[in-house]
Amino acid sequence: MNIKIDVSGIAPWVNEADAAALTGQAGEAHDLLLQSKGKGAEFTGWVNLPSEMEPSLIQQVQQVAKRLAGISEVCVVTGIGGSYLGSRAVIEALQHSFHGLCEEQTSPVVIFAGHQLSSDYMADLFDLLKNKEYSVIIISKSGTTTEPAIAFRLLKAHLENKYGKIEARSRIVAITDRERGALKNLADQEGYEQFIVPDDVGGRYSVLTPVGLLPIAVAGFDIEKLMEGAREMQKHLAEQSSFQDSIAFQYACARNACYSKGFLTEILVNYEPRLFYLTEWWKQLYGESEGKEGKGIFPAGVSFTSDLHSMGQYIQEGERRLFETVISVEHPARVVKVPANPDDADGLNFIAGKALSEINHMAEIGTFLAHNDGGVPVIRIQIPEINEYTLGQLLYFFEFSCAISGYMLGVNPFDQPGVEAYKKNMFALLAKPGFEKQTLEIRKRISNK
Ligand code: PA5
Repeated sequence: MNIKIDVSGIAPWVNEADAAALTGQAGEAHDLLLQSKGKGAEFTGWVNLPSEMEPSLIQQVQQVAKRLAGISEVCVVTGIGGSYLGSRAVIEALQHSFHGLCEEQTSPVVIFAGHQLSSDYMADLFDLLKNKEYSVIIISKSGTTTEPAIAFRLLKAHLENKYGKIEARSRIVAITDRERGALKNLADQEGYEQFIVPDDVGGRYSVLTPVGLLPIAVAGFDIEKLMEGAREMQKHLAEQSSFQDSIAFQYACARNACYSKGFLTEILVNYEPRLFYLTEWWKQLYGESEGKEGKGIFPAGVSFTSDLHSMGQYIQEGERRLFETVISVEHPARVVKVPANPDDADGLNFIAGKALSEINHMAEIGTFLAHNDGGVPVIRIQIPEINEYTLGQLLYFFEFSCAISGYMLGVNPFDQPGVEAYKKNMFALLAKPGFEKQTLEIRKRISNK
């Protein structure tokens, strides 16, 4: 097992025994999950995805990715929430920090659309696409989500205008439900190449299906290694069901023990900017899975050391209701050393010859201790390096721990009923047919303001 967890930093607010005392609850959650007997059991197909995925599906994803890569300088992945965050997290973790700007381009640049409704963003995107060869992967499990549907309408029109209707079709791949939804109908009608989002896998647990795998493969990364890492983690987490042996039990118990002592916010901390979108993916996974019925830890994220100069003050001395989970990367892929300088005008010769990663590591330990001293419980998750294999492990670990943690909290970790509220108001305000009554009501409401 490449991933290690250290929960000793939650003492003295929560001693390890408090966390371990929750093992019984975690054990029940583990059984419910593996036997598909808990709330939302119809959406637990992701649990066995790594071990049960057909090699032929992986090959098909690789072939389609190769075809798209052959005809595209840019590939626009169109989706929102669980339909884009997983692939974005993996791609950004693996690709060059200045991808597309400084190294030789061997794979298309994968960019994202349909995850907001900004006209500036879309207009800027079309400025880019005007002079680029490009393709589109449209992803929506329901096939009816407004943001990606609008972006796709725009992109489809742009593609058809640029390449003609027939070639445009060959530049579009749709990933959606097996039989329902507007996107499925459109994809059938137009004859787009298609992949299915399995019925029993919800959006935020879908990164290890074609939803995540196709964009990751288009970006040139090894999806077999990603699945291998996830498989390894699946095996470990299915077999181990004690606090001592299961890293998911340790994480789920530690965070729930913190929550029960009034620590209501969990901040996921990274020290590698490439992990920024992993944090975004994690926030969605935990926020949508646990935040319901008036319960749930609020998931936040920071990138250190940058955010030590923005959020550091609050974390050190603000309201004492937060705890941190730090993702610590042991070995960065590339080594940069601080040069010596005969003048020592900047006074930095005391670190001359040291690797930047060592200095980053000292910042991490120093911050851990300072935050602990300031009253912040800290959980530490350590990975040896960032690659497809360790990311596969990490993604599956977070998914599995989230499900266990949600069951411990007593909620259904696989639904998201609260997401509908804004949509109803937006449709009423836009006078969508079928919303006439709500349109009248909402207009009255805003005219009183
Ligand atoms: O986790 C979820 O189910 C959601 O975040 C969805 O992924 C998101 O709302 C997008 O839904 P869809 O893929 O149906 O367009």
